[in-house]
Amino acid sequence: MQLTVFLGAPGSGKGTQAKKLTQHDHFIHLSTGDILRSAIKEGTPLGVEAKKFMDHGELVPDTTMIGLIQETLKNLAPHQHVILDGFPRTVAQAEALEAQSTTKIRSAVLFEIADDLLVERLTGRRVCKQCGQPYHVRHMRPQHEGKCDACGSEVVQRSDDTESVVKRRLEVFHSQNKGLVDFYSKKGNLKRVNANQAPEKIQNLLMELLA
Ligand code: AP5
Repeated sequence: MQLTVFLGAPGSGKGTQAKKLTQHDHFIHLSTGDILRSAIKEGTPLGVEAKKFMDHGELVPDTTMIGLIQETLKNLAPHQHVILDGFPRTVAQAEALEAQSTTKIRSAVLFEIADDLLVERLTGRRVCKQCGQPYHVRHMRPQHEGKCDACGSEVVQRSDDTESVVKRRLEVFHSQNKGLVDFYSKKGNLKRVNANQAPEKIQNLLMELLA
């Protein structure tokens, strides 16, 4: 199975771009954040555990996340190209992914953008309750107020998109990111993208990078 890993701060646009890529048949988007939010909604033991960390902007423990991703990847067809959004978040997660014999990591794409732009992006973000499609109160509004363009469900604010939790998520990101960048740089498969550009421009760059 081919894997592309998306790295980058909360709000850097990983989910927006990964969702756009799935308009092309061969890409599958796997977001650990979306999996955890579904588990919370369903009230599963994973959801109950994850909520305690996510509400405070902390990472869910590595052992839980590594087990979750191993189980999820096992169920995907070998010919698929998976865009992994939100995993790995730590070097321990990156090492576990590398050790998975059925996957080949083609590249790790780092979305680069300054923190001060991210607080505005995240506090203004709204997401579809059903399919997770992201919007923004100013830059990317749905065609019909409060309704998802893709599936028509309600568009809401994520509970971890408040200013105080966003600031903590950014601190956590910076505490782990250098280790991940070094990890993929040493492997020779780190690619950098300027994430402060129009979404369409970033999508075109990604299509070239992932071709
Ligand atoms: P997760 O759901 O992965 O959140 P995140 O990494 O914090 O990333 P976001 O979804 O916030 O941002 P994004 O980069 O996808 O941005 P988006 O495209 O939406 O994780 C949530 C929590 O789950 C974590 O805090 C942690 O607790 C836990 N977790 C998940 N994975 C884990 C793991 N592996 N290990 C441990 N814990 C884990 O865009 C943001 C906004 O900007 C939107 O409004 C969008 O419309 C707008 N926007 C996007 N692109 C542009 C652009 N080019 N120009 C202008 N606006 C834009």
